Amino acid sequence: VILAHYYQESEIQDIADFVGDSLALSQEAAKTKAEIILFAGVHFMAETAKILSPSKKVLIPDINAGCSLADSCPPLEFEKFKQLYPNHTVISYVNTTAEIKALTDIVCTSSNALQIVNSLPLSEKIIFAPDRNLGNYIKEQTLRDNMVIWDGACHVHERFSLKRIVELKKIYPDAKIIAHPECDKTILIISDFIGSTSALLNYTISDKAEKYIIATEFGIIHQMQKSNPNKLFIAAPPEDSSCACNDCYFMKMITLKKLYNCLKYELPEVTLDEEIRRKAEIPIRRMLSISEKLGL
Ligand code: 13P
Ligand code: SF4
Repeated sequence: VILAHYYQESEIQDIADFVGDSLALSQEAAKTKAEIILFAGVHFMAETAKILSPSKKVLIPDINAGCSLADSCPPLEFEKFKQLYPNHTVISYVNTTAEIKALTDIVCTSSNALQIVNSLPLSEKIIFAPDRNLGNYIKEQTLRDNMVIWDGACHVHERFSLKRIVELKKIYPDAKIIAHPECDKTILIISDFIGSTSALLNYTISDKAEKYIIATEFGIIHQMQKSNPNKLFIAAPPEDSSCACNDCYFMKMITLKKLYNCLKYELPEVTLDEEIRRKAEIPIRRMLSISEKLGL
């Protein structure tokens, strides 16, 4: 089965068996009957599939397709951070390595972070890692004052230019600005809607506006355009004025040619230390079970 994230090239999204956001992809990886999972996405996503389906062969077209957010949380430093906050429940975003998941109590994605945090009593002390923007957004939404946040970020979502988005809004005054919660607060403040990739896609389908400025990775616009052929989608630009749109370098390391070779040779394969895998599976299963109960 070929699973692809919304940030993949459009040609890859079009040949995949299933396209989705991080939560939907992990749910699909957990329930697929296929013997081989080819993951068109970044390493932590393929690794999550392997954690959930250890007996299956999990392939990724480029084993070096990493993630700056996952890299911003090294396990040894995180272990020391945890020691500073005893009796805290650790909630980690799925954008982490298996080692970080093994140090986590419950995993979350941007689709269910709010509900996962809300599933815990208000009195429970929480460590949220690794994305500071998503963490601060959730902290504000849930009015929790006992949540400490790891200082990590995604280089793609952090580099949107407020100035260039405001300039676009002047050109398209009736366009709605919609943003992923990994964006900096200055972008979230001016947004009409904030949500995970699938929430943003669903919003463009249910909402009545005809134009949108999209502050998340460029790849999602392919699905937005397919679902809404008569609407206009404008990519929010990054700080670097030579770029019109904001691509994730790591997601775009996966090409159709690499995907073809990966299917042909069944390489490269994602492998994991069994002890880490077993520990990392527990918080992912907790997330899946809470999400199922809440109908997410
Ligand atoms: P979601 O798929 O949860 O929206 O996350 C976005 C992302 O940055 C994936 O790398
Ligand atoms: Fe990681 Fe950001 Fe790329 Fe998502 S968009 S894979 S969080 S670097």
